Amino acid sequence: MARETWRSTLGFGLAAIGSAIGLANVVKFPYMVGNNGGAAFIIIYLLSLAAISVPVLISEALIGRTARLNPCGAFRHLGGTSFWSGTGLMIVLTGLIVSSFYSALAGWILGYLIEALKGTVSTFTSIEEASAHYQSLISSPWWGLGFHLAFLLCCAFVLYSGVRRGIEVGCEIMMPILFLVLLILVIKGLSMPGARDGLRFLLKPDWSAVTSTTVILALGQSFFTLSAGQGTMITYGSYLSEQDSLLKVCIPVALADTVISLLAAVAVFTIVFSSGAEPTQGMGLIFHTLPTVFSELTGGYVLAVLFFLLVFLAAVTSEISAMEPVIAYLVDEKGLSRSSAVAGSAVVTFLLGIPCALSYSILSEFSVFGHNFLDAMDFVATSILIPLGGFAAVLLVGWKWGIHPALEKLRMGAPKLWERHPWIAYYLRFSICYVAPALIGLVFLHALGVI
Ligand code: PHE
Repeated sequence: MARETWRSTLGFGLAAIGSAIGLANVVKFPYMVGNNGGAAFIIIYLLSLAAISVPVLISEALIGRTARLNPCGAFRHLGGTSFWSGTGLMIVLTGLIVSSFYSALAGWILGYLIEALKGTVSTFTSIEEASAHYQSLISSPWWGLGFHLAFLLCCAFVLYSGVRRGIEVGCEIMMPILFLVLLILVIKGLSMPGARDGLRFLLKPDWSAVTSTTVILALGQSFFTLSAGQGTMITYGSYLSEQDSLLKVCIPVALADTVISLLAAVAVFTIVFSSGAEPTQGMGLIFHTLPTVFSELTGGYVLAVLFFLLVFLAAVTSEISAMEPVIAYLVDEKGLSRSSAVAGSAVVTFLLGIPCALSYSILSEFSVFGHNFLDAMDFVATSILIPLGGFAAVLLVGWKWGIHPALEKLRMGAPKLWERHPWIAYYLRFSICYVAPALIGLVFLHALGVI
């Protein structure tokens, strides 16, 4: 069967934006900013985006568009040896790990959306009550497992419908709703009494809170949030034709992703400061602080529903993109039909996600290197496998394939843009060959405790 392609570059762009915008923007970014020096963290994060994650993203999309295969096949095609196809396979497996812990986590969001619809999360009288409710939910194995399964079924449904009718149409519908809901929350936040304090907190850098760990965290976040390093862009790029401009998609993806992270932080902090709550609550920020604030507001019910709907949609468009490399692998390499590949990958993702979904209930005593199962999977993927995948992508493009032929291919689809902005070629050459590999190497060594 002929390989499916995107219906339009815009559709591909929205799918890539949908992949990038997820729990990392709406849940993780605000609390990382809160815990790591406000604007100081944002500045370091923006630098790492420009120096590393964007060049990695472009390299991956280029690998995919050129080879028109899943990550394993694409690495074999361009690298030519079993070492490179093995590396591609590792990237596919990283996608499997990411999609399983991500689904377990996103299941909680779906669970909270149901709680919001029932009215529970807008009727708390204190933060202690909200926190006790959260504890009672996550300590129930059936709640965690049930919503992990329900979330995965929603994603499998989109994926089953195919690249055009499923991913592309799904993102075209879900992304505008997501923008709209976020805008409503930002406007609401800005009109609240603590808006000034929230904004001041976001805009004033606190450099005393910055350590080497902050830098590493910012790097990891910039990677994860763009869905770089685990085959998503290779796979999404493989559904493109050479006439499609990669730069005209990758740069807007990075910009849109950053704007959404910043807007999410504005919404969260203006609302949190207005209620006098602490901005450094970690995950609790969205599971107990915000629900307590929603409970105090008029229209809190609607706000709570909108908020969890926003996070749920963001998670669906990310999860499908984390699963697609595995599906493409099963179709390209193992000759499975798309429907069997979707079913197969959903079953394995579900099974792998079970220990993650039970991490705060019956498996809470079980620890791997001092982390519970969910945090251990998150750590291994985010701090080791994803940087390794990104590292492999820039090495393949910059050194194995060769930066000159690679950039020549990249020019296709947008030759005028390159003529008007010759600095793009210098920037990409320098970052893909030197800056990105060196800095990713650093993150990796830090994660392993070598430095
Ligand atoms: N970028 C997604 C987020 O911000 C997560 C993700 C990572 C999705 C890797 C797919 C692949 O939540």
